[in-house]
Amino acid sequence: MLIYKKAGIRGAWIWWFVCTLLSLHGVISETSRALDIMTKYPLIDGHNDLALRLRMHHNNKLSTFNMHHNPRVATDISRLTAGHVGGQVFAAYVLCTAQDKDAVRLTLEQIDVIRRMCTENPEMELVTTAEGMRTSTKIACLISIEGGHSIDSSLAALRMFYQLGVRSMALTHNCNTPWAESSSSYYTYYQQKNNSLTDFGKKENGGLIMVNFYSSFVACSNNANVSVVADHFDHLKQVIGAESIGIGADFDGAQGFPKGLEDVSKYPALIEELISRNWTEEELAGVLRLNFLRVFRKVEKVRKFILVSSSQFNEVS
Ligand SMILES: *[C@@H]1O[C@H](CO)[C@@H](O)[C@H](O)[C@H]1NC(C)=O
Ligand SMILES: *[C@@H]1O[C@H](CO)[C@@H](O)[C@H](O)[C@H]1NC(C)=O
Repeated sequence: MLIYKKAGIRGAWIWWFVCTLLSLHGVISETSRALDIMTKYPLIDGHNDLALRLRMHHNNKLSTFNMHHNPRVATDISRLTAGHVGGQVFAAYVLCTAQDKDAVRLTLEQIDVIRRMCTENPEMELVTTAEGMRTSTKIACLISIEGGHSIDSSLAALRMFYQLGVRSMALTHNCNTPWAESSSSYYTYYQQKNNSLTDFGKKENGGLIMVNFYSSFVACSNNANVSVVADHFDHLKQVIGAESIGIGADFDGAQGFPKGLEDVSKYPALIEELISRNWTEEELAGVLRLNFLRVFRKVEKVRKFILVSSSQFNEVS
């Protein structure tokens, strides 16, 4: 009887040991699956504000900035590599207070610093096409403009920014422009009090939301963590489908990122969390890069079509 009891206790210990091993194995295998998936599908992140920090802390003098290892910022080459980032959209951001003043010059200076950063570091490569982004074996850089105030309502300025390699522009930042209204009411100029998209602005399907990690956005507080960010991914998947989701973390653009997602080396923690929530490899491949490439290719197709039709129009007229 006593022997039987002892065996029972030993059995319980073995059972506990096996369970612990199994659950540890679950965690370890989710970690290695996340890294496997990210090796196969390196992340293309849609939004990073390192260039803003280069202006604020270094007056855009790259020689004074250690790009390989720099704990003062959230983005450097060693952490981009650790985070399995294969492509990064860098924002040329200028303050809304520059609107109608020197916004175009300041934007040029931000484009200049991103171009120098991405061409002077051998680990990085400046790309301007979806194909260049897809095939790059380095950290591919694409330039975006953060806010329509950067073009000073001039389509010529926009076209010249394109010539310099800019391939995306947010219509507004925190301020309205004469032609687009921001969701923020921080700045009052050009206020039209229209709390919706116009019919022209209503987007067709097949687009992309790139999720921002900034704590105050994802949790309305400074108390966010990986699980809170993953909740947003689950919610978006329910509302618009995994094929319309990407990542645009906004590192170096804001103060205060979720616990566990503090810098560009931490993306695998989010992918691991999504794996534990039963996101499939196909869904994650989309979120990491394929959705971005699909939308980018579609935009290039539309541009080609417009170029062809406008040249036909010119021939006719
Ligand atoms: C406001 O939005 C509505 C709804 O799309 C649109 O019909 C209207 O033209 C907009 N007004 C302005 C001033 O943009
Ligand atoms: C993440 O934050 C939420 C909300 O504050 C909290 O309920 C949850 O326990 C946190 N999770 C972890 C793993 O810390």
